[in-house]
Amino acid sequence: MSQLNLVLLGPPGSGKGTQGERLQSDLDLPYYATGDILRAAVRDETEIGKDAKAYMDKGDLVPDDVIIGVIAERIDSHEAEDGFILDGFPRTVGQAEALSDKLEELSSRLTAAIVISVPDEEVVRRLSGRRTCSNGHIFHAEFDPPEKEGVCDVCGEELRVRDDDKPEVIKNRLAQYREKTAPLVDWYDERGLLERIDGSEPPDDVYEDVRALMATLRMEEEA
Ligand code: AP5
Repeated sequence: MSQLNLVLLGPPGSGKGTQGERLQSDLDLPYYATGDILRAAVRDETEIGKDAKAYMDKGDLVPDDVIIGVIAERIDSHEAEDGFILDGFPRTVGQAEALSDKLEELSSRLTAAIVISVPDEEVVRRLSGRRTCSNGHIFHAEFDPPEKEGVCDVCGEELRVRDDDKPEVIKNRLAQYREKTAPLVDWYDERGLLERIDGSEPPDDVYEDVRALMATLRMEEEA
């Protein structure tokens, strides 16, 4: 069977992580969420974490040269030989070019870049109610509450509000998305790789659309 190499694109709070968790468990592919990787690096005080922290606290993107190597190493690894799901990477045209070059070097290619769209006002509602654990499992106080308040249903870790989910930081993250990441929608469209998903429905309904898309992509890959 051919590789399934997927990118999840979309503004902050569009549901990339929520849909990515479901996809990972359905497809059994490695899932690389750059936000989670960077937050772990900050927590562990690695060199990358020290470089990234100030950018993340403000809602700015970390520089391309900090993040590109992190992802290149993972998609070059044995665990990604059947494919991968990338969440939050690429986020700039420079990162998209680096990913394309890396895949070419590996004689591989991207299957699809899936953009999940939601309006800005929905982003703010979602991020202000988001609760996450240190393992990256995601809940929402109103739309997707855990069974026991403050405790992750999956791993039992404490649930917290993310440091960058403060109103002024959310505003900057949206501005960064519009300026630096939204151009990737056209970039992938021009290369025939873009797939669009409406992220404004409830999570399970959005996932039905994602599953239908996966079935189509699989058929196309195997044709
Ligand atoms: P990152 O962690 O990737 O943040 P983001 O892209 O802003 O995305 P989010 O994680 O906020 O949202 P999401 O789309 O995953 O939504 P979620 O599923 O959680 O990046 C953080 C920072 O790291 C960046 O600001 C940057 O500094 C740095 N960084 C990361 N990658 C980088 C890169 N490649 N280059 C440079 N810098 C990088 O859902 C949100 C909430 O909504 C949850 O509470 C969820 O339960 C709820 N929800 C989800 N779907 C629905 C639905 N359909 N209906 C109702 N509620 C829903």
